[in-house]
Amino acid sequence: MKDIKQELAAILGSALDMPAEEVYSLIEIPADSAMGDYAYPCFKLAKVMRKAPAMIAAELAEKIGGNAIFEKVENVNAYVNMFIDKESFTRMTLADIAATGDRFGRCTAGEGKTVIVEYSSPNIAKPFHIGHIRSTVIGNALYKLYDACGYNVVRINHLGDYGTQFGKMITAYRHWGNEEDVKREPIKTLLSYYVKFHQEADADPALDQEARETFYNLEHGAEEEMRLWKWFREESLKEFNRVYDMLDITFDSYNGESFYSDKMPAVIDEIREKGLLQVSEGAQIVDLSQWNMAPALITKSDGTSLYITRDIAAAIYRKQTYDFYKCIYVVASQQNLHFQQWFKVLELMGKDWYKDCIHVPFGLVSLEEGTMSTRNGRVVFLEDVLNKAVEKTAEIVKEKGVNTENIEETSKVVGIGAVIFNELSNSRIKDYVFNYDNVLNFDGETGPYVQYTHARAASVLKNGKAPEAFDVAAMDLSSICKGSAYELVKELYALPGVILEACEKNEPSVLTRHIVDIAQAFNKFYHDEHIIVENEEEKNAKLLLTAAAKQAIKNGLGILGIKAPEKM
Ligand code: ARG
Repeated sequence: MKDIKQELAAILGSALDMPAEEVYSLIEIPADSAMGDYAYPCFKLAKVMRKAPAMIAAELAEKIGGNAIFEKVENVNAYVNMFIDKESFTRMTLADIAATGDRFGRCTAGEGKTVIVEYSSPNIAKPFHIGHIRSTVIGNALYKLYDACGYNVVRINHLGDYGTQFGKMITAYRHWGNEEDVKREPIKTLLSYYVKFHQEADADPALDQEARETFYNLEHGAEEEMRLWKWFREESLKEFNRVYDMLDITFDSYNGESFYSDKMPAVIDEIREKGLLQVSEGAQIVDLSQWNMAPALITKSDGTSLYITRDIAAAIYRKQTYDFYKCIYVVASQQNLHFQQWFKVLELMGKDWYKDCIHVPFGLVSLEEGTMSTRNGRVVFLEDVLNKAVEKTAEIVKEKGVNTENIEETSKVVGIGAVIFNELSNSRIKDYVFNYDNVLNFDGETGPYVQYTHARAASVLKNGKAPEAFDVAAMDLSSICKGSAYELVKELYALPGVILEACEKNEPSVLTRHIVDIAQAFNKFYHDEHIIVENEEEKNAKLLLTAAAKQAIKNGLGILGIKAPEKM
């Protein structure tokens, strides 16, 4: 789609004898459309031109007003208010949506560049709980946003499948474990061993020593330890994959922390060679006090590696393997310091690409019932939350007597879509409280509301016997160049820009909110106007607009990882 703002920048730039890029960033979209579709403030020009801003605005309005792109140009004080010709704007927008279809909203900004999005990354043998929804769903939306903007994207699940806790787990299993129980219910069983280990170790410190030795053995490839670790990993992955299937999420790589175990010695050597490594109480650290940070612990006194060591090794491996443009880490804000520390170590190592490693943090999710605690077994499993959302949706759908042949399938698409939509509605950095009633409210700014709007558009198209394809260039669009129809056109036009903005800010909620705006604009149009009218020309124009709104909602939801049902 043509970027109107760019065109206006060119027109204003040539009138002012200024480069278009300089003009571009100043052009605004007024909140009140009575002040024009676009506005250009002239305050900054006053100094250079030695004239009152209002006078500059008046002259500028006069100068550009004749251009055919405008319906009219006015000046209000220091602002040039520009009204775009509605007919040609509407035709351009709807023709573009009709021509691009499922690709509407995508762009080529990232062509030739590879972005890694690392997300979800749960810990093996630990519950996949409601807290994990954040990284999983935000990460998936970011992957789709980068993909929509033309980047080549690699999705990595950096599984927490290594570290001293596996020494504890294996030790616990050897003392109290039972193969059958693990097979039947892997995560809950392994977790119970882990909890027991901590209880027993409080009284018997020898257990901790045994666990340390076990992890040392694992890190040195001991056969029995390796076998048990592999088995725990596989059983856990089976459970994780059930959730990923429900959410329709996949990864290109499950190379977790363990993948880097044989790559760490070289990295530790390099840190040492660069003179960064210091010995402190037997451990090896990188001192970061100059930057007001705690030291980065690179190896423990027994030589085993740490979480941070594996992150450094992983980043170096990824740079070598993928030559990424950006490597994005979708990880809770609780780990801010961790990322600051190891980004600094990379910088000190002279890896100037450390700047391309980006931590995308997010806030906490809590439940109304109170906080969770893995150690005390107070855990809310993500799988249970998704299942409950689907069940509750089925109840609502039945109650409403919703128009669908397949209640089961619809409830899945709507229930899970609702959870995802809710997750992506607020700025990611905000903490929020999960509440089923808010998530599943069909009338709020929710997933079900937007999906329902999509289904409503589908049913209008069906009832109006809309053609497969419209010949937009030949249609009379006068009936939709005004009022709420035109407001809808404007929202649709904005979608590609919003997608790019959400991608650049790593902030899916920018898109989520815009999809709500489109849905609300469509519903206003639907209530204000009769769509299926006698007059063929008018009916066709309105159906064209309906089809475009439906397409935009579908594409937007698709990028968030949500399906758009035809019936609901
Ligand atoms: N497994 C970690 C956790 O559950 C998250 C991993 C985040 N990614 C990273 N590269 N450190 O806390």
